Amino acid sequence: MLRLALIVLLVLLAAVPALAEGRGAVPLRAGAAGQKDAVQTVRGGTAAVAPTRGAAFDGVTARMRLAGRRCRRGAVVALADGRRAGVRRVGTRWRTHRLRARGTRSFGVRLRAPARCSLLVGRFALLPAGGEREAAAPAPAGDAPAEAPAPAPAPARTAPVVLGAAVDAASLDGAPGYAGTFLANFSSLTAENEMKMEALQPRPGQYDFKVADRLVAFAKTNGKRIHGHVLIWNQQAPRWLSEASALEQLTGEGAPYSRDELLAILRDHVSTVTARYAEDIGHWDVVNEALTPDGSYKPGLWLDGIGPEYVTEAFRAARAADPDAKLCYNEIGAEVAGPLADAVFGLVADLRREGLIDCVGFQMHVSAATPPSQDAVRQNLERFATLGVELHVSEMDVDVSKIAGDDATRFAEQARIFGLVARACHAVAACTRFTTWGFTDASTWLGETARPLPFDGAFQPKPAWNAILAGLSGS
Ligand code: XIL
Repeated sequence: MLRLALIVLLVLLAAVPALAEGRGAVPLRAGAAGQKDAVQTVRGGTAAVAPTRGAAFDGVTARMRLAGRRCRRGAVVALADGRRAGVRRVGTRWRTHRLRARGTRSFGVRLRAPARCSLLVGRFALLPAGGEREAAAPAPAGDAPAEAPAPAPAPARTAPVVLGAAVDAASLDGAPGYAGTFLANFSSLTAENEMKMEALQPRPGQYDFKVADRLVAFAKTNGKRIHGHVLIWNQQAPRWLSEASALEQLTGEGAPYSRDELLAILRDHVSTVTARYAEDIGHWDVVNEALTPDGSYKPGLWLDGIGPEYVTEAFRAARAADPDAKLCYNEIGAEVAGPLADAVFGLVADLRREGLIDCVGFQMHVSAATPPSQDAVRQNLERFATLGVELHVSEMDVDVSKIAGDDATRFAEQARIFGLVARACHAVAACTRFTTWGFTDASTWLGETARPLPFDGAFQPKPAWNAILAGLSGS
């Protein structure tokens, strides 16, 4: 008997580190959540627990129970890859619930119980794909066989990379030299802020297109393309949406909008804006920055209120409203391999399978103190190119405030970094656009000391400018 107990103990001890080291154990993150002693709490009827993404797995186990005085019974709706994968009854005692869904890459739960119920989620573990093996890298096609096809030869570039910049409407009106420098040097315009939801829908259901229309007219008159930025993002959402959601998170009381209402708001915004500019805007960033560096979904108003499927819903609405537009997912910090790049890859592969996505933007906000290598950027682009989507460097700037040396030294390093990214983009035929986030150090979101752009404050080209032109021409 004693021997048997010892064996059981040893088996348990062996299993714990395997879970802790990512044979699957990942912390669950809750949308409207508090966290205590590693137990996460989800309150109310609509809160979502954000899933993890990235590697394929065959299911999850989670210890769960309901809490709250008036809370006896409830159910969690288990979501695998954004779809309903089952309903589990949950009571007030701890129980381990198991959900199996082969080839799953994301998992979440939604609580269905009286509004004052809380769902406590204790240990949560992924069951890696293929039983005891390490979880496999995400495969581009759903249940495709494990055999990897021989890599196809990379296609040759057939068109030059489009060079663009973010433009800010106030500077366009104000600073002499600003418009001229943009027009003389760039062929694509991204609105830095003017097409974000807070700008376009300042009051519920009331749209204000004045400033965005002016930017569109400016681009069209001057023969520039427009890259639409951005339809759905947790940030720069209007106050009537984001503050209501923040209040709900703080108090846990009464969600301001039901899940259905929030979905209706999302669909209305996406379809109104894409339909309005269907003639003028060829590419849209449909969703921005949905994921975190560890590859889980980023908490925020859309995830909390709708669940991870808000991403697919946004793409569906955009596709329906403007079937000709190319639809992009845009991410920060995913420019080289790692958990975030893996998660973006999995998400894009899923959307691609449904025919909902055409392009991926890598923002490329770089600090000169921690530059990526050309090989790392190129390899990441090559990997995404296998998904058959266009790739964009969508918001590049290189902050030099954290490196030593005089201006000449710092700008030379900045030029080297812009150059290596431009070369990496040129080297991968799927990389079709290279956009800088602003173009003059006189107008940058990073503040005065960053001097992150290829033209100085007086609109003179810095070494970075030649490095970009050379890199994009393949030299
Ligand atoms: C920035 C703008 O440049 C700022 O003016 C604004 O205050 C905040 O947003 N990722 C994005 C961009 O996708 O929209 C952000 O732009 C920079 C980071």
